[in-house]
Amino acid sequence: MTKITFEDHTGQCVTVEAKLGSTIMEVAIQNNVAGIVAECGGACACATCHVYVDPGWMDTVGPPGESERDMLEFANGVRENSRLSCQLKVREAFEGLIVRTPAEQG
Ligand code: FES
Repeated sequence: MTKITFEDHTGQCVTVEAKLGSTIMEVAIQNNVAGIVAECGGACACATCHVYVDPGWMDTVGPPGESERDMLEFANGVRENSRLSCQLKVREAFEGLIVRTPAEQG
């Protein structure tokens, strides 16, 4: 288990326990985190699980793969630290990770 903090666009934070090997999207859905829709269920086909990785965590999390990059083009308000949370598998190095949810998905 590792702790992940989700912060919404208003600055409200929730910290939850995340199982190693789960995706950040699954962790968000299991914990009713607002702001993650995940229409496609994690198939990298909807971009409604878009999150912003805290800039201090970018090196640990790493860049998106090619298919994720393609799908991110359909997300709103994409920035350099944008990732699709269904493509982020929780690992031990993510202990304390902070991700932010966008004001809107889709
Ligand atoms: Fe659809 Fe992540 S849940 S792209």
